[in-house]
Amino acid sequence: MTQSVKRIAISTGGGDAPGLNAVIRAVVLSAVKRGWDCVGIRDGYNGLLMPEEFPSGGVIQLTRKSVRGITHLGGTILGTTNRGNPTKFPVKGADGKIMEVDRSDELIEALQSYGVDSLVSIGGDGSLSIAHHLFQKGLRVIGVPKTIDNDLDRTVVTFGFETAVAFATECLDRLHSTAESHHRVIVVEVMGRYAGWIALNSGIAGSADVILIPEIAYDLNKVADKIRDRERQGINYSIIMVAEGAKPKDGHLSVIEHEIGRAERLGGVGDKIGRDLQKVTGKEVRVVVLGHLLRGGSPVSFDRLTALRFGAAAVRAIDSGENGVMVALDPPVVRYVPLAEATQRMKTVPLDCDTILTGRDLGISFGD
Ligand code: F6P
Repeated sequence: MTQSVKRIAISTGGGDAPGLNAVIRAVVLSAVKRGWDCVGIRDGYNGLLMPEEFPSGGVIQLTRKSVRGITHLGGTILGTTNRGNPTKFPVKGADGKIMEVDRSDELIEALQSYGVDSLVSIGGDGSLSIAHHLFQKGLRVIGVPKTIDNDLDRTVVTFGFETAVAFATECLDRLHSTAESHHRVIVVEVMGRYAGWIALNSGIAGSADVILIPEIAYDLNKVADKIRDRERQGINYSIIMVAEGAKPKDGHLSVIEHEIGRAERLGGVGDKIGRDLQKVTGKEVRVVVLGHLLRGGSPVSFDRLTALRFGAAAVRAIDSGENGVMVALDPPVVRYVPLAEATQRMKTVPLDCDTILTGRDLGISFGD
C-alpha cells in the first residue's frame, strides 16, 4: 500500500564509512522521482537538537543538485557524530558533571515541525538502536546498515567494509617488502571494535603470518613460536595483523578512554604486542596503526553499488508502507528485516567459518 509521503529526512550517525554519500544520493534521487521532498539533518541529530551550532541551518534541503557527483566521495555531506545519541544526550548539570538525558520526544517534535513524515537513518548498531527507539515512539523509520566493522547482524555485509578491507590489504602488500628487506616483524593494528572481520579478511588477502582477532584470545608465546618457526625456515620477517579488539588469554581489551555519551575507544593493543614480541623474540619490531585511514577515501565499486542499492531500497520500503525495518543484503536480493532483530546482537566472526578454516589451512597462526 502506498503511503502518503511528503518529506523524508536523512540522518548519518556514528563513525563515517565509505559509501554514505552514495546512500544519500540514492535516497534523494529515488524520493525526488516520486515527487517527495528530502532534507538532511546535520551531524547525526545535532542539527535538530543543537540548532544554534549550525549558522547555515541544522537541516538542509536535499535536491538533485545537492547530490550530484557525490557517489565516489568518502565521508558524508551531512556530517556525523558519535556523541549525539538523542536517547542519552550528554548534558552538563548544574554541578558541572555530564549526565545523559533522553531527548527523543523533543527530536520527534522537531522532525514534525519540519513536516517530516519518514526518517532514513544510516548508521551502525548505535544509530540503528536509536532508529528502533524512534520507531517505537511512533516515527516512520527505515534503517540502512553502515559500518566498516561489518558487525551488524541480519545483513551479509555492511557498506564501507570492503573499502576498509581493500585498503588494509594494500597496506599489507606494501609492508611485506620493507619487513623482508629489514628482517623485521611488523605489527599492523586495524579497527573493527569487538569484531575481527577487517583483520581477518585483509589479513588473509594480504598474507599476514599471524592474525589476532577479538573472537580468539591470543597467547603471545604462540605468536612468538610462529615467528621463530619462520626463522627456522630461513624467513626472517613476519607480518602480524591485529584487530583493535584483540585480547590476550587472561588479559583484557585495550581501551584508550571511556567518555559518557559515547562508546569506549579501543586502541593500543598493537603497541603492546609489538613491545612484548620484541622482548620475547629479540627481533626488531615496528608497529603500524591504520586507524582512521580505513574510514577514508573513495568507496570501492562493491560498496558504492551496495550503498546505492540500500538507498533506493530504503525509499521503496517507505513507498510500500514498510516501517521499523532495516534494508539488508541477502544476495542476490536486498531484503527488509525488523530493526528489533537487526540490533539484537553483534555479528562477530564465527570460529568455524570458512575464512578462518582457510587461514588455518594456509598455515596462518591465530595466536591460539
Ligand atoms: O565503528 C567504526 C569505528 O571506526 C571502529 O572501528 C572504531 O573503534 C571506532 O569507530 C573509532 O571511532 P572514533 O571515530 O571515535 O575514533
